[in-house]
Amino acid sequence: PNVLLLGAPGAGKGTQSARISEQFDVEHVTTGDALRANKGMDISHLDTEYDTPGEYMDQGELVPDEVVNEIVKTALQEADGYVLDGYPRNLDQAEYLDEITDLDAVLLLDVGTEELLRRLTGRRVDPETGDTYHTEFDMPDDEEVRERLVQREDDTEETARERLSVFEENTQPVVDHFETEGTLVRIDGEQSPDEVWADVEAAIENAV
Ligand code: AP5
Ligand code: ZN
Repeated sequence: PNVLLLGAPGAGKGTQSARISEQFDVEHVTTGDALRANKGMDISHLDTEYDTPGEYMDQGELVPDEVVNEIVKTALQEADGYVLDGYPRNLDQAEYLDEITDLDAVLLLDVGTEELLRRLTGRRVDPETGDTYHTEFDMPDDEEVRERLVQREDDTEETARERLSVFEENTQPVVDHFETEGTLVRIDGEQSPDEVWADVEAAIENAV
């Protein structure tokens, strides 16, 4: 299936996408990870405000559409089924997506602002595996792993707040668009990861 997973920063998109990818044997396409792997890429020829994606990301701003659209197009062309995480983040990207693919399911992980901030500022990442943990809810047992965990550069409280306001302004209209279209399935993302997964899995099975 082709699955679109929407949700604010910290809603659990990465966490649930990993499970979707494994359970349904589809590609996890995530613009955030793709951009993090290319933070220093020279985009100055595009006549953008900054010369690299990293400068936008570390301030919590959106990377220009022309950079992101290209990443998504290539990734979707290569995928036989996917879960798309982190895209589209504004209505122009949503329109572009509509031109290049067909979606089977559109899910929204619904989480309140206070909980989002708690998740973002407490998130820690294992730089070796890319696995995500949380200082309060989910730390690894292995001491060696615990000691090498790092905080994402955009997970400071100030940048996290900026990302949430960018979501409200640019991405909420995308959510509203799918809601109006009648294709959106809203999932209570404040439940435990296992409970969220049960709802996510059922929604996808129901859609295909
Ligand atoms: P991106 O990497 O996409 O970040 P994001 O959308 O801000 O989302 P996150 O990765 O922060 O959160 P998540 O929903 O994946 O949550 P997670 O599962 O990790 O984008 C980063 C930047 O790249 C953007 O700011 C922008 O600059 C740029 N960018 C990316 N895409 C772009 C685009 N299309 N256009 C333009 N620019 C773009 O979970 C979070 C934490 O909560 C973890 O610690 C986890 O352990 C914990 N957790 C998860 N689920 C639960 C649960 N149920 N209960 C308790 N804790 C939980
Ligand atoms: Zn993520």
